[in-house]
Amino acid sequence: MNRNFPQFRRAVALIMLVVLATGCTSLYDRNKPIVALDVPSLRDIYADYFDVGVAVSLAGWSPQTFANHQDLIEWHFNSLTAENEMKPDALQPREGAFSFSTADKMVDYAVDNNLKVRGHTLVWHNQTPAWFFRDEAGDLIHEKPKEAITEADRELVKRRLEEHIEQVMTHYAGKVYAWDVVNEAVSDHYTTTHRPDSPWYIILGEDFMRIAFTKAHEVDPEAKLFYNDYNPEMYYKRGRTIDMLKSLLDEGVPIHGIGIQGHWSANGLNVREIEESIRMYAELGLEIHITELDVGRKGATEAQQAEAYRQLFRMFKRNSDVITSVTFWGTTDDVSWRRDENPLLFDAKKQPKPAFWAIVDTEKPWQQNRDEYLRR
Ligand code: XIL
Repeated sequence: MNRNFPQFRRAVALIMLVVLATGCTSLYDRNKPIVALDVPSLRDIYADYFDVGVAVSLAGWSPQTFANHQDLIEWHFNSLTAENEMKPDALQPREGAFSFSTADKMVDYAVDNNLKVRGHTLVWHNQTPAWFFRDEAGDLIHEKPKEAITEADRELVKRRLEEHIEQVMTHYAGKVYAWDVVNEAVSDHYTTTHRPDSPWYIILGEDFMRIAFTKAHEVDPEAKLFYNDYNPEMYYKRGRTIDMLKSLLDEGVPIHGIGIQGHWSANGLNVREIEESIRMYAELGLEIHITELDVGRKGATEAQQAEAYRQLFRMFKRNSDVITSVTFWGTTDDVSWRRDENPLLFDAKKQPKPAFWAIVDTEKPWQQNRDEYLRR
C-alpha cells in the first residue's frame, strides 16, 4: 500500500489535470471564433427601448457589407440605412435619369427581412451632382456673384429640388418610414446659422429648408421627416441648430425629428453634453434618432472604447422616451468610412469586440458580459 501511494497520487493528479484542461477548453476558449448568430442579438436586447439599425453599402469602395454581412445584419438589427445608395448622386446622376435599382435591392431586402428603412438623404451639399445647380447656360449658379443670381435661377433650382423629392419619396412611399430630408445645413461657425458653402443655401437662402420639408410632407404624409446633422449635440453648434429648427417649427414647417449623426470619439466623449442636448431637442417636440453612430478609437484602448459605448447606451436607454432609433454607421471596422479608427462593434473577422460586449448589458463590465456568454 505504502509502496503504491506515490503512483496513486500521480494518477489522481493526472486525472485532475485532464478534467481541468478539458473543462477549460469547452467552457472557456477565447480563441475559438464566435459565431455571429450565437451571441446575444442587439435588436432583442434593445427591443423595449429603440430600434437598432445599421448602414450598409452596395456601391462605392465597400460593397462587402450588403453582400457578405447579411448574417450580422439580420441577427442584430431591425433598421437599415443605405450608406451612399440613396444620396442624390446615386438616385439622380443626370437630370430626370433616376437610377433606383441599387437602392431598390436594399429596400426590397429590408422589406423581405422585416427591417425598417431610414432614407438618407434628400437634400445635402455633398454627393449631389452639379447639374442641380446649373443655369440654362450651363453655369454654376452658386458660383456667380450674388447679385447675378436671378429669380429664374432660383425657380429652376427650387423646381429641381421639389422634383427630386417628389420622385424619390413617391418611389419609396410605404417602404421608407423615415427620411433625412435635409442633411448638415447648419454652419460650424457662430457668425452664421446656415453653412455658407451649401449651394442650396447660396441659391435659395434659408427658404430651402422650408421648401424641402413642406414638399416632403406633401409627397408622403406618412413619412417621419428628420433634420440630420453632425455635432448638433455639441455646445458650439446647438444654439444655432435649435434657433433654426424652432423658427421653422413655429411657422408650422413639418419637421418631426432630429437625427444626431453620432460620429464620436472614445477619447474626450462628453456623454452629459449629449444627454442635455437630447433633452433640449425633445423640448421642441422632436423625436430623436441617432443616425450614424461610430465611436473612433484614436488615442484610446479597446477597453476605453467599450466604456464609451457602455456609457452612451446607458444614456440612450435613460432617454428612450424620446430616442426611438439608434443606427450604427457600418457593420465591421474594416469597411467603416473611419476604418483607421476602428469605430464599430465588430472586427474585420466579424468577431464582437469589447465594445459589443459592453452594450450587451450596460450595467456590467464588458468582460463579465463576454465571460457569461463564453461559459454558457
Ligand atoms: C459617408 C459614407 O460613409 C462614405 O462611404 C462616403 O464616401 C461619404 O459619406 N455624414 C453623412 C453620411 O451624413 O452620409 C456620410 O457618409 C458620413 C458623414
